Amino acid sequence: MTSATSATSTTSTDPARTGRPVPSDELLVEVDRLSINFPVGRSGFWGQHQQWVHAVDDVSFGIRRGETLGLVGESGSGKTTIGRAILRRIEPSSGWIRFRGQYITDTKGEELRRLRQYMQLVFQDPYASLNPRMTVLQLVAEPLVVHGRAKSIDAARGDVVKLLGRCGLPEDAADRHPHAFSGGQRQRIGIARALALRPAFIVADEPVSALDVSVRAQVVNLLQDLQHELGLTYLFIAHDLSVVRHISHRIAILYAGKLVELADSDSVYESPRHPYTEALLSSVPIPDPPLQRARRRIVLQGEIPNPIHPPPGCRFQTRCPLAQDRCRHEAPPLEEKAPGHWAACFFR
Ligand SMILES: Nc1ncnc2c1ncn2[C@@H]1O[C@H](COP(=O)(O)OP(=O)(O)O)[C@@H](O)[C@H]1O
Ligand code: SF4
Ligand SMILES: [Mg+2]
Repeated sequence: MTSATSATSTTSTDPARTGRPVPSDELLVEVDRLSINFPVGRSGFWGQHQQWVHAVDDVSFGIRRGETLGLVGESGSGKTTIGRAILRRIEPSSGWIRFRGQYITDTKGEELRRLRQYMQLVFQDPYASLNPRMTVLQLVAEPLVVHGRAKSIDAARGDVVKLLGRCGLPEDAADRHPHAFSGGQRQRIGIARALALRPAFIVADEPVSALDVSVRAQVVNLLQDLQHELGLTYLFIAHDLSVVRHISHRIAILYAGKLVELADSDSVYESPRHPYTEALLSSVPIPDPPLQRARRRIVLQGEIPNPIHPPPGCRFQTRCPLAQDRCRHEAPPLEEKAPGHWAACFFR
């Protein structure tokens, strides 16, 4: 990979990535031509060919301060990989990430440890992500002690109890273990833990997918309230379009590692410009029964392509109802189809 300094000429304030040209200091996060390949064994009689999973391919976008960007795509499309790359938990194969105007792709050691305080992850599975042997106090106070913000777990108690209350947990939550709580409450503990260090940016990786439908809206509302109160910026990851509209200012649609559409939420829902987005939308239930009946349901045939051998041309060509010859040879660029509305399709 080239060095961070040589990349200063790239214009990551490109309106393609932000909906409109914005000064760089309005952007908290900039992702610039990010690609991530994972090595996965070898092929050939002598094992001479290294095989790669092409998980993320040439993806660029920006997230404004205080914004929620929804990142949506089927399972395996590269959402978690992008989120973790921004948090510097996965190394990019190429491309750049800037946080608060600073290139962080090469940040290491103590500087990386400091940086991590400002960027946190809310996990998908609140059952697996909390150590069952720790009390809630220990879980939430641990990052404070690790980063030297509290002398001990007990010294952090006052702040932790306040934060737990703010996240909608009962007063006595601090001294109990995660198994004593429901899924929704565990996710609230996960959110409190992520907020303990007062980060500026949160990657919420499918934070409600594992929860009962009945508690999803409460957790989404909590995230939204916390955003307003604390000025947080979110990358909110979801595998379908049913939960993201409510919380996202803009939505990015990912298909097989490629960004295929990016626009403000209303535009994505009301006038999608990519056939894949249309298919995703057609499976979101509409509360109005006549509208629901009138709507054309697009059922995608086949599976998301094998990321070791993605198809040539447009990655969606193997499932696209509109595919033509050109799509099989040429990859459509992400283009501005309407002001602030970007999509990668030749024919829309
Ligand atoms: N550490 C890894 N090694 C090999 N392949 C990986 C690794 N992590 C993710 N992948 C693959 O990369 C692709 C994208 O994965 P992921 O980002 O987890 O997708 P999503 O979050 O959209 O479900 C998938 O094909 C997945 O199997
Ligand atoms: S470029 Fe072709 S295959 Fe790709 S989404 Fe558009 S019509 Fe479908
Ligand atoms: Mg994922």
